Amino acid sequence: MGFVFLLFLSLFVSFSGAEISGKVGVNYGQLGNNLPSPSRSVELIKSLNAKRVKIYDANPDILKALKHTDIQVSIMVPNQLIVNISANQTLADDWVRSNVVAFYPDTMIRYLLVGNEIISSTDTQTWDNLVPAMRKISSSLKAHGIRKVKVGTPSAMDVLQSSFPPSNGTFRSDISGRVMKPMLQFLNRTKSFFFLDVYPYFPWSSDPVNIKLDYALLQATNTTYTDPGSGLTYTNMFDQMVDAVIFAMNRLGYPDIRVFIAETGWPNGGDYDQIGCNIYNAATYNRNVVKKFTSIPPVGTPARPGRVLPSFIFSLYNENQKPGPGTERHFGLLYPNALEVYGIDLTGKTPESEFKPLPEPTNNEPYKGKIWCMVAKGANKSDVGSALSYACSQGNKTCDPIQPGGKCHKPDSLVWHASYAFSSYWSQFKKAGGTCYFNGLASQTIKDPSYGSCKFPGVTL
Ligand SMILES: *[C@@H]1O[C@H](CO)[C@@H](O)[C@H](O)[C@H]1NC(C)=O
Ligand SMILES: *[C@@H]1O[C@H](CO)[C@@H](O)[C@H](O)[C@H]1NC(C)=O
Ligand SMILES: *[C@@H]1O[C@H](CO)[C@@H](O)[C@H](O)[C@H]1NC(C)=O
Ligand SMILES: *[C@@H]1O[C@H](CO)[C@@H](O)[C@H](O)[C@H]1NC(C)=O
Ligand SMILES: *[C@@H]1O[C@H](CO)[C@@H](O)[C@H](O)[C@H]1NC(C)=O
Ligand SMILES: *[C@@H]1O[C@H](CO)[C@@H](O)[C@H](O)[C@H]1NC(C)=O
Ligand SMILES: *[C@@H]1O[C@H](CO)[C@@H](O)[C@H](O)[C@H]1NC(C)=O
Repeated sequence: MGFVFLLFLSLFVSFSGAEISGKVGVNYGQLGNNLPSPSRSVELIKSLNAKRVKIYDANPDILKALKHTDIQVSIMVPNQLIVNISANQTLADDWVRSNVVAFYPDTMIRYLLVGNEIISSTDTQTWDNLVPAMRKISSSLKAHGIRKVKVGTPSAMDVLQSSFPPSNGTFRSDISGRVMKPMLQFLNRTKSFFFLDVYPYFPWSSDPVNIKLDYALLQATNTTYTDPGSGLTYTNMFDQMVDAVIFAMNRLGYPDIRVFIAETGWPNGGDYDQIGCNIYNAATYNRNVVKKFTSIPPVGTPARPGRVLPSFIFSLYNENQKPGPGTERHFGLLYPNALEVYGIDLTGKTPESEFKPLPEPTNNEPYKGKIWCMVAKGANKSDVGSALSYACSQGNKTCDPIQPGGKCHKPDSLVWHASYAFSSYWSQFKKAGGTCYFNGLASQTIKDPSYGSCKFPGVTL
């Protein structure tokens, strides 16, 4: 009896460890001009205990560096090739030959994603070609006898028209029949996954009054939400978001397609006009979500309890060339110099107590005060000149005070004039969505640059 019991136990343990528990991977984005080499990056990926890596292209240097490792790899067909591939099997075959066959099986390519967040772009021609391109790529893999590679495409939450309550999850009407239905049919037929990018940070930061921070960070001890439609009770925002997509798939008649978390994470920094982007929250979110993904037995979500959620955390590095607000450049587990932003173990096995204490969060409440937009340190002077001209050409009287004789003309320097122009531009266009970014040439400050009779226009929060 004892022997049989032990045998059973050990089988259970090894089976759970190898098959049932979720493996956590990392997204390796390369939008930085200061990032470590591919081979160094692969060493760093191993040191984080990542079991998978996802890249946004099929960079041959990275695929070479991943040869003979035990890291599973996800590669991506660039968005711009989708239209051509959808209409040309030869082109699909060529792409698969040069980007998969050339590295497989020594590099453990397991996922081939066709484009990235295609539905989030306004390029509707690519929408219509997405599923046909996925089918062509899938045929090419089959023709090459490659059966271990699943074909999919990552979606953001904006594929949903309604996500609340989760049981009301519905795909947008403009894509539901046109893109999602054929995509789900393809994913179901090929036993692939619905790849989903899930960021509780975004709904929380746009409504921090009604959504509790600890609920978004998977830390809630006393906040639950019961969905009146399904009767399911939620303890965190992440589950709500994933289940909204599961309900949307159910509604189209596909209740069995597995979900793969293609991206999730939390920003460790950002701009003054952003909230909750700090190391404390990023570490808390990522450690909690990794614990969830790696728990044995798996926890799943309320709509699919006990199911594995395979995943990739976003992202390996802080990427200094990602456009958009400052948070976009602060999702890294690592700084570009390879140092950890905070302690993290993607196996989820390191207890919290073994990590160094985290810095207290400073921006969990919205900043209240004035902000100005200045030329960033180290900005390229010739690029600043072009950005100055652009900013001055926008809005009303944007640059009048820096003209000769104007109150802000002196000091008569490019950086001073451009800083004025950026602040003036931003103060006029912030409400309409204008950003203090200028391709990385600008950054926010809370220190009033005005002096003498020169008053810099600022943004008041
Ligand atoms: C797609 O095909 C057209 C026509 O063959 C070609 O002109 C174009 O450069 C191709 N686009 C890409 C991104 O390769
Ligand atoms: C299809 O792609 C192949 C390989 O790139 C190219 O040689 C061929 O001209 C393309 N066919 C059409 C109809 O564009
Ligand atoms: C459910 O979603 C629809 C749109 O698909 C929306 O009009 C409706 O308000 C939602 N119901 C609730 C209770 O939020
Ligand atoms: C999805 O795939 C399963 C298993 O292959 C199959 O039984 C089911 O009919 C498919 N669903 C649809 C709606 O095609
Ligand atoms: C939990 O929340 C309820 C209702 O908001 C409150 O009455 C109760 O005191 C809270 N318990 C703890 C331990 O915070
Ligand atoms: C500055 O940018 C210009 C054009 O964008 C480029 O030609 C030049 O090499 C850059 N200078 C430096 C020092 O990077
Ligand atoms: C510029 O002035 C016009 C007329 O007063 C106004 O309608 C417009 O909104 C202003 N533009 C900006 C960017 O403030």
